[in-house]
Amino acid sequence: MKKKQIIVAPSILGLEEDELLLDIPNIVKGGAKWLHIDIMDGKFVNHTSGSLEQFKKIAKWHDLVNDVHIMVEDPKSYVKEYIEAGANYLTFHYEACLDDDEVKEIIDLIHSYGAKAGLSIRPDTAVEKVIPFLKDIDLLLVMTVVPGQGGQSFMAENLIKTGMVYGVREMAKMGLNSEVNPDLLIEVDGGINEETAKQAVNCGVDVLVAGTYIFSGNVEERIKKLLN
Ligand code: DX5
Ligand code: ZN
Repeated sequence: MKKKQIIVAPSILGLEEDELLLDIPNIVKGGAKWLHIDIMDGKFVNHTSGSLEQFKKIAKWHDLVNDVHIMVEDPKSYVKEYIEAGANYLTFHYEACLDDDEVKEIIDLIHSYGAKAGLSIRPDTAVEKVIPFLKDIDLLLVMTVVPGQGGQSFMAENLIKTGMVYGVREMAKMGLNSEVNPDLLIEVDGGINEETAKQAVNCGVDVLVAGTYIFSGNVEERIKKLLN
């Protein structure tokens, strides 16, 4: 069987700007094609991180795909500015929306500005909640830690969600399920290391976000390990 192409998205949450600048060549040498940028407002989650100004600056430093994860209240108000600043994928939280209509509205808004739309669920949210949107979104981000900070332990039970979505996505690829985008990417974020990455890939994951694991060692080597 042909080996599936995995995408690694290094999460720069714990890095100072000067560290990131120095690490970009190592990220590229390691083979990562994406960069994961966390925006936290201190309301949807307890901590704050990132800002539009900082993102605008960072986006100019590299040619990687900007995978922007907004952990914020009122995600709609972030869409235009972040996409104009260079977000290629903009992922917002299901739990931050008032209702399903608002989720759909934000997905459409993201697409109208020319970016790919990602929808994320926290560990305490059932995967059934996002089933109605699998046709419209480009990426489903299943959180494998409670969002808010790096360095937490992987919550493996969330891989039941990725496995399930992988199943329906593969059926869509075979033309057996028109309710799911056949090109949907399945991403996990939180607690990814060499071992949990293997578990995730075995459970259908396409995109691995990793911060602590990659940046607490040799960046190039660690990305290569995740890719294999
Ligand atoms: C967590 C953030 C993650 C975080 C992952 O809320 O969304 O992107 O940086 O960090 P690690 O890999 O350290 O769990
Ligand atoms: Zn993230």
